[in-house]
Amino acid sequence: MARRKFIAGNWKMYKTTAEATVFAQMFRMLLEEKPIPQADLAICAPFTQLAALEEAFRGSSVGVGAQNMHFAEEGAYTGEISAPMLKEIGVDICIIGHSERRQYFAETDETVNRKLEAAFAAEIVPIFCIGETLKERDAGQAFAVVERQLRAGLSGIPEANAVEAVIAYEPVWAIGTGRTATADQAQEMCAFIRQTLVSLYGVEAADRICIQYGGSVKPENAEELLAQPDIDGALVGGASLVPEQFHEICNAVSAMVK
Ligand code: PGA
Repeated sequence: MARRKFIAGNWKMYKTTAEATVFAQMFRMLLEEKPIPQADLAICAPFTQLAALEEAFRGSSVGVGAQNMHFAEEGAYTGEISAPMLKEIGVDICIIGHSERRQYFAETDETVNRKLEAAFAAEIVPIFCIGETLKERDAGQAFAVVERQLRAGLSGIPEANAVEAVIAYEPVWAIGTGRTATADQAQEMCAFIRQTLVSLYGVEAADRICIQYGGSVKPENAEELLAQPDIDGALVGGASLVPEQFHEICNAVSAMVK
């Protein structure tokens, strides 16, 4: 089955609202010059930029996503944002379990699982991130780690929800380092992820699930990565901050017919 491509930018903690609005204007101009109907596009921005971006991208093909959310609907969780709060302002995409959150903000497979449940309950599409560290890869544990994260994150999630998920394979050693996984390495792991999804949900469901690659995706390597049979999109950090670069990455899908 031909899966649609999905390219998302992850702005991390970059850009003020003023800068975000300028980005949106420039990116819309680029899309008007060269539309990319073959892919779904989104920008995942810091919380304070989301409302302005919703406004700035209204009527365009670009979705707006958050980078994190809490698993509770509401409660005494100072500093946190819930899924219904995101939904209220029109945000229906959210990165869950990014490695930076696992590393610096004590996210665990268990909190990731609860956040995925909460995202589905609120009809937010999660971009569920998994990936091994360099130490784990060097120790020959990459597949075991990725399988553990995937199974734990999806624990108890029914097939009807899982098919709506986006899985982002992001080897930690390739994030922000300029060191991309080779297309073969990325494909190998994304195929393994799909096999694991087959064992969880069956062939038909696994075939529908979008798997992105993330980690130093750039205009120069996007086409080769996106051409891989099990890579259905990209989660782009640094290169998504520059409208021309992000547009060029998104446009890489125009070159391919799967
Ligand atoms: P990068 O980040 O493209 O800057 O490596 C990717 C990510 O963290 O999602």
